[in-house]
Amino acid sequence: MVDARPEIRPAPRLRVIFLGPPGAGKGTQAARLAEWAKVPRISTGDMLRDAIAAGTPLGRQIAPLMEKGALVPDDLLIGVVQERLLHKDCAKGYILDGFPRTLKQAEGFEHMKRGDATTDVYVLNVEVPRDELLRRLSGRRWCPHCQSTYHIYNNPPKDDSLCDKDRTLLIQREDDKETAVARRLAEYDERTAPLIEYYRGRSRFYTVNGYRPPDTVFAELKGLFVKAPA
Ligand code: AP5
Ligand code: MG
Repeated sequence: MVDARPEIRPAPRLRVIFLGPPGAGKGTQAARLAEWAKVPRISTGDMLRDAIAAGTPLGRQIAPLMEKGALVPDDLLIGVVQERLLHKDCAKGYILDGFPRTLKQAEGFEHMKRGDATTDVYVLNVEVPRDELLRRLSGRRWCPHCQSTYHIYNNPPKDDSLCDKDRTLLIQREDDKETAVARRLAEYDERTAPLIEYYRGRSRFYTVNGYRPPDTVFAELKGLFVKAPA
């Protein structure tokens, strides 16, 4: 008689890199995916903004760069991410939102101490037309307390200008102002877009059309993975 017991598989580990220009929806989708899969979302932008808010030496060093939309030096980022990936909560997986962003960072990631092989990592490349990116960034509002993101038209808070989670007054990120946005897009074109070719040959590279409602994008992303157990 055939044994009908289901196959017992090891718990899946979700490790993801989000690629995509500013405003593509990386943070929006990374937050949802992390919550669904119960793994940490590692947003380098949020970590750097935390350092600025806390007034640490790192924060003071990077504030002028971030404000004008320039990238922070690679070695700093590699150190910050390496340290974060060694935390216990990354053992079951992690979602990288905003890293790597240059070839040097991608190479740095390959050499980091982590419990996984680079080839096991999914790379999700989110594509959105440029005029839509500009619309999203100019309308984005942000909670300086919990870092939740809203949009004045696409995803407004329930109560005018207040964060749904902690009722902090929402503000516009300094680097969402016009001149900084232009610089961020230029940095993306010059230094981050080449990562698409760097990762394209891998079996776990996916390009996702991000120019659709957030629920539709998320449904597609979720479909790529087996649900992690509770
Ligand atoms: P970071 O915070 O990573 O910013 P970014 O890459 O410029 O990306 P954004 O956060 O602007 O966009 P997103 O793709 O996350 O979109 P979101 O989901 O918010 O980095 C900031 C700075 O930190 C950098 O400029 C650099 O200085 C520094 N830095 C960080 N990492 C670094 C690194 N590795 N190396 C060097 N420097 C680094 O969505 C945008 C808006 O659109 C929101 O309002 C949202 O509600 C809306 N939206 C989202 N999805 C949709 C949808 N499907 N339809 C309609 N609207 C949508
Ligand atoms: Mg983001």
